[in-house]
Amino acid sequence: MTYPTEVDLTTSYLGLRLSSPVVASAGPWGRDLHTIKALADAGVGAIVLPSLFEEEIVAEEVGLSSALEAGSEHFAEALGYFPATPEFTGAADRYLETLQQAKKELSIPIIASLNATSIGGWACYAMLLAEAGADAIELNVYRVPTDPQMTGGQVEQMDLALVSNVCASVPVPVAVKLSPYYSSLAHFAARVVSAGAAGLVLFNRFYQPDLDLETMNVVPKVELSRAWEQRLPLRWIAILRPQLGPGPSLAASSGAYTGTDVVKAIAVGADVAMMTSAILRHGPDHVRIVEYELSCWLEEHGYSSVAELRGSVSQTASADAGAFERANYVKTLHSWTKVG
Ligand SMILES: Cc1cc2nc3c(=O)[nH]c(=O)nc-3n(C[C@H](O)[C@H](O)[C@H](O)COP(=O)(O)O)c2cc1C
Repeated sequence: MTYPTEVDLTTSYLGLRLSSPVVASAGPWGRDLHTIKALADAGVGAIVLPSLFEEEIVAEEVGLSSALEAGSEHFAEALGYFPATPEFTGAADRYLETLQQAKKELSIPIIASLNATSIGGWACYAMLLAEAGADAIELNVYRVPTDPQMTGGQVEQMDLALVSNVCASVPVPVAVKLSPYYSSLAHFAARVVSAGAAGLVLFNRFYQPDLDLETMNVVPKVELSRAWEQRLPLRWIAILRPQLGPGPSLAASSGAYTGTDVVKAIAVGADVAMMTSAILRHGPDHVRIVEYELSCWLEEHGYSSVAELRGSVSQTASADAGAFERANYVKTLHSWTKVG
């Protein structure tokens, strides 16, 4: 596949120079350096490793200390209680090893992702990731607030405290991966940036568990996204880009499958378009096709670079973004025509 050579695909994300706006978002590639290398070979601009979950680390530490305690009560047999060494290699150690290995073997930026709950947890693990060579850190703020006593303001305050704590603790840029469910997303997004985030990833995807009627058990279910799911990040990036200005990086995450999906993300003001489902469905080499389509589209439409396209479609022209949104809502509902 030969790309139109005169088209410049480079972009800047979190202050990092990327060769392409197509980024592999957090996905199951962290377990296997092979896939990470294949993604780099296929041309992704950067790779986000899967999230290191605080709960995983804590669970392993609890498991380790109870195993040791059990051993100490029966000293004679204690040695027999020690599991084989690999099982004692904690989740954090395995993660750091993959990160270091990826940094050693690849030249593209590697972004480490972290999902923690406690303030101490976020800052401490973020520091470890930065020390291990992560070019940036993505905080995956995944929380389902189920406490009826907790107000929206309190939830936001907790998230902001986490963000500012991590941003102040690490020497590398921090992106925050948000859910679309904050009650005043534009306000909250601006506060996350003020708290020190160098960029926002829009959006996190919430996986809804299903119910198995045979066992009456709740079963986890990961569904790959569909192309129409890109509309939510597109809409919010179009709203936020003019409000936040050119400073903070914006990454579109959800439903990007093709080169034209990447075109749409950049056109509304994203710096990068992230992909997980498309890569899982079609394999790492799919990235080559996406970049080829992107280059061809840019050339055919008279753009010499991704930078030239960025933000060409956004709400800059609209003084009242809320009224613009409402007008579009009314227009959309009125556009329905009967099928068949
Ligand atoms: C199998 C799988 C694993 C994922 N793991 C993570 C993760 O560890 N951390 C995270 O922030 N997002 C994770 N995601 C979410 C993706 O990074 C992405 O935000 C989401 O899938 C939407 O993008 P897509 O439509 O390109 O898949 C995962 C998604 C899938 C399908």
